[in-house]
Amino acid sequence: MTKFSILLLPVLVRVALAFPAYGSLAGMTAREVDEFIANNTVASIPPPPGPLTDDGLKLVNDPAHPFMAPGSNDIRGPCPGLNTLANHGYLPRSGVARPDQLVTAVMEGFNLGNNFAKFLVYQAHLIDGNPITNLISIGMKTPQTGPDPPAPAIVGGLSQHGTFEGDTSMTRVDAFFGNPAIFNETRFDEFSAFAMQFGVNGTYDINAAAELRHQRLEDSIQTNPELVFTSPRILSAFSEAVFPTVFFVDGTVNNGQLSLENARLFFQPNQFPNNFHRQPAPADFPTIEPLTQQIFNKHPFVPGVNNGTNNFIEMPNTPALSDFCGIYNDIVNRVLKIQYPNPTGPLLDALQTNLNFFFSAVESHNCPQAFPFGQ
Ligand code: HEM
Ligand SMILES: *[C@@H]1O[C@H](CO)[C@@H](O)[C@H](O)[C@H]1NC(C)=O
Ligand SMILES: *[C@@H]1O[C@H](CO)[C@@H](O)[C@H](O)[C@H]1NC(C)=O
Ligand SMILES: *[C@@H]1O[C@H](CO)[C@@H](O)[C@H](O)[C@H]1NC(C)=O
Ligand SMILES: *[C@@H]1O[C@H](CO)[C@@H](O)[C@H](O)[C@H]1NC(C)=O
Repeated sequence: MTKFSILLLPVLVRVALAFPAYGSLAGMTAREVDEFIANNTVASIPPPPGPLTDDGLKLVNDPAHPFMAPGSNDIRGPCPGLNTLANHGYLPRSGVARPDQLVTAVMEGFNLGNNFAKFLVYQAHLIDGNPITNLISIGMKTPQTGPDPPAPAIVGGLSQHGTFEGDTSMTRVDAFFGNPAIFNETRFDEFSAFAMQFGVNGTYDINAAAELRHQRLEDSIQTNPELVFTSPRILSAFSEAVFPTVFFVDGTVNNGQLSLENARLFFQPNQFPNNFHRQPAPADFPTIEPLTQQIFNKHPFVPGVNNGTNNFIEMPNTPALSDFCGIYNDIVNRVLKIQYPNPTGPLLDALQTNLNFFFSAVESHNCPQAFPFGQ
């Protein structure tokens, strides 16, 4: 634990003082944990920042944000975007951060729009983060996020399979085959082959994205007996297929064509290219959604799961990719509720606060607010 950022340090010190031994909560009942929390400091929850004031083109691979490979105690995970931000110090280099820091980092470093940033971050924090300490790991589960709320909560970090992380990733294997959070060269070779075959000038562009996304699903249907391709994974899978054509392309070029050289930098060492500029304007839902629609239209699918290899059972009664409000509902009323069946006290307060932040990101879609724990 050598490289905690200045920002993170006070939080960790306070957690460490409040809980001298991380393991000491094991064996407590939920009521005792609530009591312990009530007796001790619960982290305050800063609200997410609003949109950037200075929201234009900007050199982001600048001297204030040098690339440094992660140290042995620094955590990285399945997201090349967040790994890159941590490697350049836009996030704490430890890989453990508060959700508001994540929102700031993705806006500053890539120019994600405020709503889209909040949607990704609070979804992730609710299902993979620690609501009590207000910290989330961008990779594996770690004691650095402090003592966990009682099971069945997982607080697994972004690498936790079956929450946000899921099957059919572009540059990672399905969890059935190995560690889904690490870069896989075979997968990247395939990514490159699709860029060469379908992309303009051998780049990863929207056509390459459409064909690769389709092929990744077909491949997992044929090989992964435990494939799950339903809400919410379907939405992240399609968004993540589009992201490289937008956010990994230099903002001064901004032509939707990612060179394989730059793709490798982002996906493997998780590094900005030299002289890299973020998007020239915030890219929010209105930028991303037409692109995901475009790749869906080329190869439509019905959500489903494999029951053994090459035996895809369609689940037409689960939310479709186009059903944004259905997916929002599914995240809070199913995925979150499994982990927090009956929260009380400060844990409930923290969840409600984060649910409100999450909802603030979906309001533009006119979804009715969901209240998994009452109002
Ligand atoms: C804002 C908060 C974000 C969160 C919580 C997040 C989380 C994740 C997670 C959990 C995955 C793994 C999904 C899987 O493949 O199973 C992932 C993948 C991915 N993320 Fe992020 N991400 C965020 C922002 C970004 C940004 C800003 C970018 C691009 C600049 C990005 C680009 C990607 C890409 C391209 C993948 C796909 C990796 C692959 O399929 O091999 N993400 N992200
Ligand atoms: C919380 O504080 C009360 C009153 O000081 C004490 O009786 C109780 O044992 C504490 N509970 C825990 C779990 O620390
Ligand atoms: C990478 O993926 C290939 C193809 O799925 C697999 O055979 C190989 O074992 C993986 N490598 C690692 C290091 O997981
Ligand atoms: C392909 O690359 C060449 C050389 O960089 C460039 O002149 C040409 O305009 C590119 N074609 C397209 C369709 O972008
Ligand atoms: C899955 O396959 C097994 C037999 O291999 C069958 O008994 C079971 O009903 C199938 N489940 C579903 C949901 O179709």
